[in-house]
Amino acid sequence: MPVQQGIVGPIPEGQDAEEYDKLRRRVLWAMPYGLYVVGSRARARYNLMTLNWATQLSFDPKLVGVGVERQSFTHELMEEGRVFSLCLLDREDRAVVRKFTKPVEVDVAAGEANGFPFHEGRSGAPILDQALAYVDCEVRQQVELGNHTFFIGEVVDAAFQKPEETPVLRMEDTRMNYGG
Ligand SMILES: Cc1cc2nc3c(=O)[nH]c(=O)nc-3n(C[C@H](O)[C@H](O)[C@H](O)COP(=O)(O)O)c2cc1C
Repeated sequence: MPVQQGIVGPIPEGQDAEEYDKLRRRVLWAMPYGLYVVGSRARARYNLMTLNWATQLSFDPKLVGVGVERQSFTHELMEEGRVFSLCLLDREDRAVVRKFTKPVEVDVAAGEANGFPFHEGRSGAPILDQALAYVDCEVRQQVELGNHTFFIGEVVDAAFQKPEETPVLRMEDTRMNYGG
């Protein structure tokens, strides 16, 4: 009998579920990604976190999407504040992403997150002063997906803060991975 398309389920027949799960993770980890710091804000609460699930989604209008863990503080702020910034980093600044993978100490008066200075973008979201470039977005849609939400934002500002030819940090420049 031919298999009807679209209802085969997540585990192929005859596979050991545990072994297959490990293999599937390695394949998913092999997907190429960028690596960013995402800024979020709701009124007086600010946050910045490391994120690799980001992509442009439309060129008219300019839409960018980010996949954010439901449990994260960033998620809470994005749901309420409806803004985010996506900070692209200098490849030389790979150590910076490690500073934003755990809860961050934000000093709003000083404009610092874990000691890294930030400023407000046009949307109000925080942008790292040290970022090579950024896109600043207002959330237009959100899609609930398992343990993540895909927030889709329209770009309301974008700029380089370092020379345009500076190499941009990508996931492959680190030994880190996420998801899988
Ligand atoms: C390499 C790397 C990539 C990550 N990518 C994402 C991502 O795409 N989405 C996400 O929600 N969390 C991602 N994280 C996890 C968050 O950085 C981490 O959960 C952070 O502590 C959440 O911060 P918050 O609770 O202050 O918002 C990633 C972590 C690492 C180390």
